[in-house]
Amino acid sequence: MTLHTRLCDLLGIETPILLAGMGRASTPELAAAVSNAGGLGVLGAASCGPNQLRAWIRRMRELTDRPFGVDTLLPASVRRGGGNAGGPPAESLLPQHRGFAQDFMAREGLNPLDEAGLAAALGRDPADRDGPVPLSRAFFEAQMEVVIEERVPVYAAGLGNPAPWLDRLHANGTKVMAVVGTTRHARQVVESGIDLIVAQGHDGGGHNAPIGTMALIPQVVDAVAGRVPVLGAGGIGDGRGIAAALMLGAEGVWIGTAFLATEEAGIAPAQKQALVAGNDEGTTVSRSVTGKPARMVKNRWAVAYAEAGLEPLPMPYQGMVSSPVTAAALAADRADIWGGFAGQGLGMIQGVRPAAEVLRDLATGAERVLAGAGRFTDRAAGG
Ligand SMILES: Cc1cc2nc3c(=O)[nH]c(=O)nc-3n(C[C@H](O)[C@H](O)[C@H](O)COP(=O)(O)O)c2cc1C
Repeated sequence: MTLHTRLCDLLGIETPILLAGMGRASTPELAAAVSNAGGLGVLGAASCGPNQLRAWIRRMRELTDRPFGVDTLLPASVRRGGGNAGGPPAESLLPQHRGFAQDFMAREGLNPLDEAGLAAALGRDPADRDGPVPLSRAFFEAQMEVVIEERVPVYAAGLGNPAPWLDRLHANGTKVMAVVGTTRHARQVVESGIDLIVAQGHDGGGHNAPIGTMALIPQVVDAVAGRVPVLGAGGIGDGRGIAAALMLGAEGVWIGTAFLATEEAGIAPAQKQALVAGNDEGTTVSRSVTGKPARMVKNRWAVAYAEAGLEPLPMPYQGMVSSPVTAAALAADRADIWGGFAGQGLGMIQGVRPAAEVLRDLATGAERVLAGAGRFTDRAAGG
């Protein structure tokens, strides 16, 4: 039995497993390993400035001649210029939050980094130094121009609705997908004309909505009523999870955390070890890093914010507060302060492996489970 759905034909891939776009972690090396092994590798380009994004896409084309995707964020709140709903302007609160971050770093013995050290720790390309502020509206728009100019095979909006860019993307033959966490958002993006949808449940790593994967997938499948294929995401860590997502009506899966502890993933060795050591209770949801709720490895920064009773600032301001802290923690190998985003499937990670091996095990694991599914009905059929 070989796993195959209409998604494979739509995207020109062998197995309906997509590497989720994970900011910084889904590098050209990781995404190419997944594409070359028969899945679809998607670059986690959310925090790449436009120059770095172009370099990543070109590097990807050197590493594979197979289809691939690019993931960035298009949050409606930032594009609307949304501020601190009902409260004082976020800019005016920045000094207080930056002061909190400085005190926290002093307490934890973290040395502040200069601008070059911060960029290096966060993997930012110096070529983008004078470009727009990361995760700001101008930043997102500059990224989209590169995605369009480079005519990528697949584009994924990790947050928001790519509607304003759809005509230009489609004119290039780019397949467009959107990650959603509610049926309301699913209907909106399908109405806009996207080609694929990812239903990502609360179990998943990174930004997420409150609805669990098991409940979300079938409701999104029903909401889009066959108009576009749905991929399941969030907490899918082995073949059993893939089989379950397909049984819930998905036609493929979008997997992040299971690919994080791979040789190719663009995260620090200390972060990979924290993933291997982690278990099902190892994650938390916090707004302390980007300003939007995101699932991450439990960490001292999120705890400190919660204990201080400080309301995190909206995107992109919270990133300006947290990035000096996360960068300093990365530079000091302090995964206890910032271990990165991860989903609840953490406990299924057994070690750091090559990505192609992870993909193969996911596919063969799903095939094995699906091949054995008849045992649930044999007895009934036999009378
Ligand atoms: C380390 C990490 C970084 C992520 N960064 C992004 C991102 O930049 N853009 C995005 O759309 N989703 C991001 N996500 C969410 C993933 O695309 C995906 O939806 C999620 O990983 C699926 O759940 P899982 O981690 O349980 O497999 C990230 C997830 C992780 C674990």
